[in-house]
Amino acid sequence: MAIQNFEYCNPTRIVFGQDTISHLDDLIPKDAYVLITIGGGSVRRTGTLSEVEKALGDRKFSVFEGIEANPTYETLMKAVERIRQEKFTFILGVGGGSVMDGTKFIAAAVHFNGDPWNIVLQKGSNIQSVIPFGFVLTLPATGSEMNYYAVISRKETKDKIGIASDFLYPIFSILDPTKTYSLPSHQVANGIADAFVHVIEQYLTYPSHADVQDRFSESLLLTLIEEGPKTLAYPNDYTSRANFVWAATLALNGLIATGVAQDWATHIIGHEMTVLYGIDHGRTLSIILPSLLHIMRESKKDKLLQYAHRIWNIHYDDQEKTIDEAIHRTRQFFESLGIKTHLQDYNLDEKAIDEIIDQLHRHNLTALGERQNITLEISRKILQASL
Ligand code: NZQ
Ligand code: ZN
Repeated sequence: MAIQNFEYCNPTRIVFGQDTISHLDDLIPKDAYVLITIGGGSVRRTGTLSEVEKALGDRKFSVFEGIEANPTYETLMKAVERIRQEKFTFILGVGGGSVMDGTKFIAAAVHFNGDPWNIVLQKGSNIQSVIPFGFVLTLPATGSEMNYYAVISRKETKDKIGIASDFLYPIFSILDPTKTYSLPSHQVANGIADAFVHVIEQYLTYPSHADVQDRFSESLLLTLIEEGPKTLAYPNDYTSRANFVWAATLALNGLIATGVAQDWATHIIGHEMTVLYGIDHGRTLSIILPSLLHIMRESKKDKLLQYAHRIWNIHYDDQEKTIDEAIHRTRQFFESLGIKTHLQDYNLDEKAIDEIIDQLHRHNLTALGERQNITLEISRKILQASL
């Protein structure tokens, strides 16, 4: 396959580094009426919220608190109501992927004519405009700070669905690595695994002879493998945390996706596991990816060998042995971060597999992967191999 034609435009301004929250004063219009959106309160405890409030200077603002992990339509609609009533003109999300994704949905829903759930049902394709929004990142993982995706859940219907639109790029994101020091280690581990799998979903497909994208992806994987364990062991070490933060952003800002095939089956299966059992996003990926690579090894053979050689330095004469070892090293990497990689570790068994397959069926997710060859039957095999 040759490299595909592409267009690339990423309009998000990144402000990176220590003590950069004060830049908010230059980034947000002076006359803005700001709604600050936050999660369950970590940013209050860490002092990040007060720093943000101070940086807003004389601007009028209020805080919307309570966007939960895996943000729900039910919660987000409360913020939409407030914005409609109180006429805020700018939304500033301060938090991790859930706050950022939730804020994107809120920004689009405020302007939407009709039932905003239709934004989700149509995967964001019907978004026509948004209220301006920007972010202060506190958790490196999702890349939401520099991309046009959001993932929204609905409790009532047990849905967790991704949306995408050019309108969903934030105007700016402030990435101050020191604001992530307070993360509990399991969230840091989740973030490393998530960023790692983002790269894999765009890299480990079939060859497109896109040398720049491949080498760039490989640099991100190697950085995560090198810096991940360091930043877990020494959470206050600026250099390794800074490298992790930037790697996580670049892993899903669209650049390495240009001109190449993309997979995303691990994510899609993982989303169903989160909505059904509440397993953290990064953990669902660490369970699914090793067995997906195993089951799809023929279809992904060329790239699996490249991955084995260039990332893990495995060079057996026997190709199958090389692939086995690369998959094993991948699983070991997740386990070394303290993430369990089998369904049984989360008390899930064959019954859960049936439920996950039912969800995939209900959501019409019956032809996944870069070749759309992951049928429900293959998804079941992947899940069985994850037991
Ligand atoms: O809610 P608070 O109290 O703020 O606590 C959060 C939350 O409990 C805490 N936290 C965040 N920053 C902290 C902190 N605790 C201490 N110190 C800090 N500095 O961490 C917990 C998890 O936060 P969350 O935002 O849920 O994590 P993450 O960034 O991993 O986001 C996960 C969500 O993003 C979606 C996932 O599906 C999930 O819903 N994704 C979004 C993507 C995108 N927009 O492109 C792509 C991803 O693949 C992913 O699907
Ligand atoms: Zn992810």
